[in-house]
Amino acid sequence: MSGARFPLQPAAQAWKRALHQAGGAVLCVLHPARVKALRDPRQTLTLGKLDYWMLRAIVAAAERRGEVGALDHIHQQFWQGADAARFQIADGAKRYQRFLDHHAALITPPLQAAMAARQCQQWFEIGPGTGELLNYWARLCPTLQSLRGVECNAELAAWANSQRQDERIDVRAGDGLAEARVLGGAGTVFWSYGGVLEYFGTAVVEDYFRWIANQAHPSLLALVEPLSADHRLGEGPLSQPYGAERSYSHDYRRLAEQAGLRLCYQHTNNTGQQRWLLLVAETTTPARE
Ligand SMILES: C[S@@+](CC[C@H](N)C(=O)[O-])C[C@H]1O[C@@H](n2cnc3c(N)ncnc32)[C@H](O)[C@@H]1O
Repeated sequence: MSGARFPLQPAAQAWKRALHQAGGAVLCVLHPARVKALRDPRQTLTLGKLDYWMLRAIVAAAERRGEVGALDHIHQQFWQGADAARFQIADGAKRYQRFLDHHAALITPPLQAAMAARQCQQWFEIGPGTGELLNYWARLCPTLQSLRGVECNAELAAWANSQRQDERIDVRAGDGLAEARVLGGAGTVFWSYGGVLEYFGTAVVEDYFRWIANQAHPSLLALVEPLSADHRLGEGPLSQPYGAERSYSHDYRRLAEQAGLRLCYQHTNNTGQQRWLLLVAETTTPARE
């Protein structure tokens, strides 16, 4: 994502990156209490310039040691803030056009076929942003009874609701992972687009998929999520830190299959600037009593 300041994003120029990391490492030594606070997922902090330097040093050191995930909560804090709402609202139409140009013709037919076979009646989108995709699927799927989005940014949730073109759509503010377990169930399509699951670590994604597989049968998982260009799917790591934001490239197919879902459709889509994974998978296990 460009044009926005992500909390873990290193500077573009090599000299600035080196300066931030070295300076950040010194600051970490000088301010151990602040480092402890930055690493504590229970704390919501207002980040200042020095914090950004320290965050970059912490991430770089953790990745050098092969440890990742120490700062996943920082992604969540960023997405809940006013900066994220501002640039998502400015970017929403462009992001939707990107879906129409590159992905819609590929994923819509296999997903609609899978939905028809399972008579899905509910749609659940985690992280809908400005909500254009909810309007798209509502137009295409007249038999859906409800389309719900759960957005962790309250300002974006309100915006998406104000833009909805169909009364079956409802977007609420909250943690989509938790709300999926409340709002989703049998007959649901669990959808994400444009980079949402990339902000969760491997165990969190696995847990989400396992819940869908075990507790929401029959249902579908469907996603269009970014991948790192060098991620070797099927044989490389299940997840690897990726891109300027230091989010994750996940091997979604393997994670879905490990969780007990069965693949219906997969396509790797190189759009020029970005590699994407398009995936549809179905549950096979009856829900546990
Ligand atoms: C890269 S944006 C994608 C937005 C939208 N899907 C699109 O493509 O335009 C990531 C979105 O995920 C949301 N998000 C991140 N973590 C979330 C969570 N735990 N629950 C719900 N939404 C979340 C963010 O607020 C943000 O709107």
